[in-house]
Amino acid sequence: VIELTCNQPGAPTATVTIGGGLGEALRAAVGNRRAFVYFDPAIRPPKALDGIPSLAHTGGEAAKTLAGCERLLRAMSDAELDRDSLLLACGGGVVGDLGGLAAALYLRGIEYWQVPTTLLAMVDSSVGGKTAANLPQGKNLVGAFHPAARTLIDVGWLGSLPEREFRSGLAEAAKIAIGMDAELFARLEARHDAIERRDEAELTTVVHRCVAAKLAIVERDPYEHGDRRLLNLGHTLGHALEAAADYSIPHGLCVARGLHFAIHLAETTSAMPPREAMRARALLERLGFARDPLPPIATLTPYLARDKKRRGTAIRFAMPTGIGTSEIRELDLQTLLAALASDVAS
Ligand SMILES: NC(=O)c1ccc[n+]([C@@H]2O[C@H](COP(=O)([O-])OP(=O)(O)OC[C@H]3O[C@@H](n4cnc5c(N)ncnc54)[C@H](O)[C@@H]3O)[C@@H](O)[C@H]2O)c1
Repeated sequence: VIELTCNQPGAPTATVTIGGGLGEALRAAVGNRRAFVYFDPAIRPPKALDGIPSLAHTGGEAAKTLAGCERLLRAMSDAELDRDSLLLACGGGVVGDLGGLAAALYLRGIEYWQVPTTLLAMVDSSVGGKTAANLPQGKNLVGAFHPAARTLIDVGWLGSLPEREFRSGLAEAAKIAIGMDAELFARLEARHDAIERRDEAELTTVVHRCVAAKLAIVERDPYEHGDRRLLNLGHTLGHALEAAADYSIPHGLCVARGLHFAIHLAETTSAMPPREAMRARALLERLGFARDPLPPIATLTPYLARDKKRRGTAIRFAMPTGIGTSEIRELDLQTLLAALASDVAS
């Protein structure tokens, strides 16, 4: 069992445990506290949590709304949770984000723990403290920073995860590897076949490295004023593709195409040496992320122009600068669009 901690200013220490058979440890840690389980109906919450009141999140991403949050808050209130109670969110990023938001709001904030059951949630969304709900106007427009006090990761959950969702999580792991962890990059290169087979020891290593990299950044910059923006590598185009497809494509798959674009832009602006760009591209392809043709640029422009990371007329772009290194560059929209045009063409 691996244990990592994250100390953010103004928040209690968050603990991330990675290992197998965490159910009993979970039950023991809950002890006699009043608790409530919010879970994804694709999974059965750990047996050890039997008997604790619960609610299933139905409706997937489309129900990651304030109405969905209210439904959960009412159920928590019906279960008479108090300030010392605990909310356990078992599922993917949707359940983690919405559960975390409900925990941040209920009685102005109660403790919550995450038990991530998708690869994306394990390598990314279950750590770092961002909670969210969507509005009809856009994704994740409402939220709060409310870190899970504990995250309990067991890669055993991944056995039943559909292929597309597994790949979506792999893209976020590739993002960490390309942008900030050369050792993880080499590991993905050397062991991608075992990872594809969902070898649990291999997946544990990948998840461990991703969580460690994210926690290190979040500790330095919990509220995304600086370095944390590096975690948006691949997301400038990724978010635009996701929105243009009306969120019908899993997040990570859009990010993977965004990573290809970031590498292209880095290469054409000489931010990344061609040899390293080629290596990064090859890894993405080996992991199953083809450099597919993009939709017409005109359909992407409004989303790019509206990008959250935009400041004034400049777009803050997470730029890969080598294998395992990246930095934030301010670009204007025209530069971005020109690079997009040449990406489509190349
Ligand atoms: N808070 C953050 O920092 C952060 C970071 C990245 C993404 N997100 C959010 O995370 C969400 C995406 O997360 P996701 O990719 O986990 O999606 P998800 O929660 O929708 O799960 C994907 C699918 O897998 C199913 N599922 C979950 N666990 C399973 C299992 N073990 N076996 C079989 N099926 C299973 C779910 O029912 C769902 O259909 C988005 O809403 C995104 O905005 C948040």
